Amino acid sequence: MKKKILITGGTGYIGSHTTVELIEAGFEAIIIDNLYNSDADVINNIFKITGVRPHLEVLDLCDKENLKRFIGQNKDISAVIHFAAFKAVGESVIKPLDYYRNNLLSLINLLEVMKHFAISNLVFSSSCTVYGQPEKLPVTEDTPLQPATSPYGNTKQIGETIIKDTTISDINVKAISLRYFNPIGAHPSALIGELPRGIPENLVPYLTQTGYGLRDELKVFGNDYNTPDGSCIRDYLHVVDLAKAHVVAIERLTAGRNKANYEVFNLGTGRGVSVFEAIKSFEHVSGKKLKYKVVGRRAGDIEKIWADPSFANKELGWKTLSSLDEAMKTAWDWEKFIRQKKQQL
Ligand code: UD1
Repeated sequence: MKKKILITGGTGYIGSHTTVELIEAGFEAIIIDNLYNSDADVINNIFKITGVRPHLEVLDLCDKENLKRFIGQNKDISAVIHFAAFKAVGESVIKPLDYYRNNLLSLINLLEVMKHFAISNLVFSSSCTVYGQPEKLPVTEDTPLQPATSPYGNTKQIGETIIKDTTISDINVKAISLRYFNPIGAHPSALIGELPRGIPENLVPYLTQTGYGLRDELKVFGNDYNTPDGSCIRDYLHVVDLAKAHVVAIERLTAGRNKANYEVFNLGTGRGVSVFEAIKSFEHVSGKKLKYKVVGRRAGDIEKIWADPSFANKELGWKTLSSLDEAMKTAWDWEKFIRQKKQQL
């Protein structure tokens, strides 16, 4: 019997890649998504990749009654991976209450309904944003957290606390928070990838859209940081590598191999890459010269951050396999795929 895994936000960027990896690892995947920031067509593309069409329940996790009804029909769920959340940093500053209500209410509803049906395993989609600008690099899981720099970041910190407190209060609940560094790229099939609505906030979609001619030029937010080339440094990891970490985390929880009821892992490559290096990588894999202009710093940006992934390497037996160029190449292939698809419509 295949273990049934519920993926909230399973039609989103990281959720869809994780669904593919779970199916390929032999799990049954079922998805809850309100399609607020994604497209139901993703299910067709997951089918094209895996030959399996996961069930999609279009449902808002803030609607507790419906959530209870659906999970009540799927009491044999072995574990939940919770991706569903608002994730735009800038928007969260403008609409903090929307972010707190959506991201926290959905988590609380999920935990309450899981408790009601005695579903005890949870993997939570967290972020390196919880570290703020750390004093020491690279960042380990013991690096002290800094006050969040946005309501979005705060929902990740509070979300982790809510989950941790739940595992303390109820020894039947086991959870893993995965702190992602910067996921980029797309599935090698170019059938699923990141689909930002409107103007992208994140570097790589902006880069590929500029390369495709959809945007005039990339704005590099600052070249006066205390870094070797003056631009900000991040740890960019391939989304497929990231997705595979979720499979390993699920296997750990469902096999009872976890060493504590609440565990946290950093997921990154361990390598810091500057904005200018990311541009060079794009130019290398696309063969295109990218138009860019250096502008002022973006408010709230962190100067430099990269992971120490050794705890995940050792404990989960997980590490990133793709290089920056490989990940960038898949991002570029995906950009071309969606633009061609849009032209055909
Ligand atoms: C942000 C969030 C992170 C979140 C992620 C995905 C913070 C501090 N970081 O990451 O939690 O998970 O978004 O939504 O809250 N850049 C440019 N020009 C652009 C876009 C970006 O130069 O047009 C630069 C930025 O200054 C930054 C780097 O590229 O140095 C990466 O930016 P971005 O992709 O937005 O990710 P983060 O800010 O690291």
